[in-house]
Amino acid sequence: MSNDEEMVVTPWEVRGEVDYDKLIRQFGTQPITDQLLKRLKKQVGKLHLQLRRRLFFSHRDLDTVLDLYEKGKRFVLYTGRGPSGPVHVGHLVPWIFTKYLQDKFKTNLYFQMTDDEKFVIEQDLRIEETTKYAYDNALDLIALGFQPRNTYIIFDIKDIALLYDIALEVAKRITFSTAKAVFGFQDSTNIGWIFWPAIQAVPCFIHAKLTGENVPSLIPAAIDQDPYWRITRDIAPKLGYQKPAQVHCRFVPGLGKGGKMSASEPETCIFTVDSPSTVKKKIWNAFTGGKPTVEEQRRLGGEPELCTIYQYFLYLFEQNDEKLADLVRQCKAGETVCGDCKAILTERVTKFLLEHQKKREKAKDKVEEFYIMR
Ligand code: TRP
Repeated sequence: MSNDEEMVVTPWEVRGEVDYDKLIRQFGTQPITDQLLKRLKKQVGKLHLQLRRRLFFSHRDLDTVLDLYEKGKRFVLYTGRGPSGPVHVGHLVPWIFTKYLQDKFKTNLYFQMTDDEKFVIEQDLRIEETTKYAYDNALDLIALGFQPRNTYIIFDIKDIALLYDIALEVAKRITFSTAKAVFGFQDSTNIGWIFWPAIQAVPCFIHAKLTGENVPSLIPAAIDQDPYWRITRDIAPKLGYQKPAQVHCRFVPGLGKGGKMSASEPETCIFTVDSPSTVKKKIWNAFTGGKPTVEEQRRLGGEPELCTIYQYFLYLFEQNDEKLADLVRQCKAGETVCGDCKAILTERVTKFLLEHQKKREKAKDKVEEFYIMR
């Protein structure tokens, strides 16, 4: 992928080199400032590494949600997944963050599995496939330690009766011209896809429907999902609901050059069910910020900013800030070479995945406990 290609970020496509400051301006979101982090810290104690290291970098109304929270008003969390294939490590990153928020703020989480969305959007997927992936992907979510007591998974196709009235209320208030402007729909776009945003809006309000408690939802998600929330926020007050708030994260890169980790390039992403030998092979072939030869690397040092291996340490696999800083320093000074980092990362990822796979197996008996309709 060439880096001078024009940046395109939509819910269906991420292309070119992503300029996150520009996205904040284009989308009209707010940066997560030091001051906001300070406020959060007061509530939660230690900030999660994904906040400290600015993986989550932008928001809408996070400050408002905190204002309300400080006055004793609760909120709920909402996030989701388009089940078009197996889950990879990149998908886990915002889910891990969501778990952290849930633990700190003691909130309910509503998690939407969009087997309907993936069916209407992906040319070659059949309904049986997307529903099967929805169930399969739920195992990964549950393996992260979520509990049925406060976690509700919505399987869209199964649960459509629960969603449909709110979806209609939403759909009635969004014109085609708005949807076209926000999502870029064409005459050739199938009408399932055009209606779809109404369904993704529903979980923002589902807590109010189920409990009568009209509290805002806070949505941790990658920034490409923001267009959905823009239209949902516009119509929320018309339906008598609170506007949903968001925290946006960056894309976790794949192991290849540029772009986000994408299941359509399986060599460059680590799936949660990969075996140790597959993990090793993928990491070994990863794109790094190293020099072509060891001799040059020793002499000139590497470039962690360009390195996919480094990003994995940054966002997931090196929790300790000092050790992370050491890693950077040693790389830049040519004290370490790429093989060293690859070996460490392979070990950490393998260890993490073996644990995860065990929990995933156990989750197989538990999925029903998480059904929103139980
Ligand atoms: N549209 C998302 C996807 O394709 C799935 C999704 C539905 C979602 N609701 C969400 C993602 C809320 C984040 C937050 O992956």
